[in-house]
Amino acid sequence: MFSRKKKSSGLVGLDIGSSSIKAVELKQKNDRYELVNLAIDNLSQDTIVDGAIMDAFSVSASIEKIFNENKIQTSKVATSVSGHSVIVKRIAVSAANEQELELAVHQEALQNIRFDLADVNLSYYVLGPAPGTGNALDVLLLAVKREKIQGHTSVLEQANKTPAVMDIDAFALQNAFEFSYEPPPDQTVALLNIGASLMNINITRGGMPLFTRDVSVGGNQYTDILQKELDISFEDAEKLKMGQELPDVPPDAKAPHLHFVSELLLLEIQKTFDFFRQTTSTDTIHAIYLAGGTARIQGLVDLLKAELRIPVEILDPFRKVHVNPAKFDSGFIAEIAPRMTVAMGLALRSFDAA
Ligand SMILES: Nc1ncnc2c1ncn2[C@@H]1O[C@H](COP(=O)(O)OP(=O)(O)OP(=O)(O)O)[C@@H](O)[C@H]1O
Ligand SMILES: [Mg+2]
Repeated sequence: MFSRKKKSSGLVGLDIGSSSIKAVELKQKNDRYELVNLAIDNLSQDTIVDGAIMDAFSVSASIEKIFNENKIQTSKVATSVSGHSVIVKRIAVSAANEQELELAVHQEALQNIRFDLADVNLSYYVLGPAPGTGNALDVLLLAVKREKIQGHTSVLEQANKTPAVMDIDAFALQNAFEFSYEPPPDQTVALLNIGASLMNINITRGGMPLFTRDVSVGGNQYTDILQKELDISFEDAEKLKMGQELPDVPPDAKAPHLHFVSELLLLEIQKTFDFFRQTTSTDTIHAIYLAGGTARIQGLVDLLKAELRIPVEILDPFRKVHVNPAKFDSGFIAEIAPRMTVAMGLALRSFDAA
């Protein structure tokens, strides 16, 4: 309010992940976006477990810390939820008008959503005419458990922030990807955001999510196996995983354990791709983009390339953003870029047409 130097879009993308909270703030400058703020704050291991906020105080303290340390002016936040409290389904619905559509969607929700509908926030988006079904509509059904949204809303409120946008990780991921890569409309792309406890999968084409799924696998599994097999602490296992050497661990000791977990991840990805191919009319996935901290696990990109025979690339969400080198360390930005993908996709929401 007093300083106009940091003029921004007025909305911060805030990704509340299980291992860390990430924030991105952008501003529009002529026809480009510029990075105004970028922050990451690590959470201790038992703060968010299995996607549930166990220690709301620590989470809100971390959010406040990020805003204070970076002197973020706005209190408006775009955030997202994910995991087994979120269901996304694509359905074909026949309806002649809005009322019929509402009713039909509700009927479909009763059949497709495994939660009690009284406990969820239900929304839907008409994507267009459903292919090959006469006059049916292609509808994206989204159900999020209320307690999940409340968990996020309440930590934000405790930190005196206003949740202006509540998204889901898989869509924020897609938003960041489309902005950064402007994919051709006929290209089918699998986006995988592999974090600490979760992998968000979103197979998209032409700006539409064709299939999304969250799987409970991620970086924690690599850390766990190193901890157990090499008898080291969580902190040491994390360091080892990220490429640091430890005095008591031979340099080649970790590789087979990392490979073992990567094979599990591969299996989940293969299962999802098989299901996708069986349930849609699409056979070919043209490319895979990896986001999240676990994208950087040694050997993962090569394993996926070799086994899936699809080009695999690590997603850079800042590809099209101007990052002032006087303000941000380019090495640091490059290192953490894949982890900032969801926060970036959320920050971009501030420029969405209202
Ligand atoms: N350079 C690296 N190499 C390997 N693993 C890494 C690297 N950097 C971070 N990680 C791992 O990535 C994970 C954190 O990634 P990210 O920040 O995307 O997760 P998160 O959003 O906190 O978790 P989630 O989305 O699952 O709730 C941790 O398991 C961390 O150990
Ligand atoms: Mg995450």
